[in-house]
Amino acid sequence: MKAILITQKGGPEVLELRELPTPAPAAGEVLIRVKAAGLNRSDIYSRISKSYGSSTPEIPGLEVSGTIEACGPGPTRWALGEPVCALVTGGGYAEYVTVPAGQCLPIPLGWSLEEAASLPETVFTVWLNAFRTGRLKSGDNFLVHAGSSGIGVTAIQLASAMGIHVYTTAGSDEKCRWCESLGAIRAINYKTQDFEAGLKDIGIDVILDMTGGDFTIKNLRLLREEGRLVYINSMRGKDSQIDIREIMNKRLTITGSMLKPRSAAFKSELAKEIETTVWPLIAQGAMKPIIDKTFPFEQAAAAQQYMESNEHRGKILLHMR
Ligand SMILES: NC(=O)c1ccc[n+]([C@@H]2O[C@H](COP(=O)([O-])OP(=O)(O)OC[C@H]3O[C@@H](n4cnc5c(N)ncnc54)[C@H](OP(=O)(O)O)[C@@H]3O)[C@@H](O)[C@H]2O)c1
Repeated sequence: MKAILITQKGGPEVLELRELPTPAPAAGEVLIRVKAAGLNRSDIYSRISKSYGSSTPEIPGLEVSGTIEACGPGPTRWALGEPVCALVTGGGYAEYVTVPAGQCLPIPLGWSLEEAASLPETVFTVWLNAFRTGRLKSGDNFLVHAGSSGIGVTAIQLASAMGIHVYTTAGSDEKCRWCESLGAIRAINYKTQDFEAGLKDIGIDVILDMTGGDFTIKNLRLLREEGRLVYINSMRGKDSQIDIREIMNKRLTITGSMLKPRSAAFKSELAKEIETTVWPLIAQGAMKPIIDKTFPFEQAAAAQQYMESNEHRGKILLHMR
């Protein structure tokens, strides 16, 4: 099979298209013939932080859609040829990928096979962090930073469809107006305006944050009593100033998580929950596909370069011929 490999630490140019043996599914796994793969920021971090040398090349890619090509030994719910999308733990930028069967989901009603590749990583992450951990519920005030990111567009659409008041930040006025068109009540251009000043009248219940750094102290001040601040990254810096009295006075919770290193059992259990809670909402139109651009699979380097430009709004996909 053809696959894109990170051969060494570096810029997009270190991604190489190579011919590799097609993997065989083990017991409990399926082999997916990939139709499309979603790009995620984590794919870029894997490339720029790769530290273990060119002897162990890595195939990036955390989400795919495609059809079931083969099933490993043992019982499985999936039939050969069945269309699925799946959360994978690397390996998505390839013609074929093996994945634990429990990490596959059916294609939601109304979505094409290719579009469904844009769902797993952001839906799993937003559901786990904002809804399960952050206990986000109808009527809450919710702030998600980076509103135009893949994570942002899923969080805005899903939360606003569930009766949650969504606020967001983004890096341009144009992105802000676009986030409002997706359902955000107010989007603030953090490059030209102090988002804390713009939201201080609200009283936020849950913040989904991938920025950290200088945003942390502002986030803490924006939260109301019993508010939850959930981290999924620290793009503005891993070190932050916090005001401990703010946390005590309002009984705040600060937490966070990383999805990629979690076990297959955890991801499969999460997939089951998402299939019963989020999938019906998607089928009812709570989320529409927001695909900014689709690149041919062979142009993975150009696709990653585009993501790094931060010009995109929503998801970027690679598609197989
Ligand atoms: N922990 C987890 O399990 C998990 C899972 C998935 C994703 N994530 C994280 O969630 C974030 C979004 O992922 P994604 O794949 O959706 O990303 P993405 O589509 O590439 O979007 C990232 C956006 O973040 C904004 N941004 C970049 N640097 C920033 C900074 N210093 N301050 C404020 N905003 C900044 C940019 O938009 P602007 O123009 O608005 O600046 C950029 O478009 C990433 O940080 C990723 O690592 C974590």
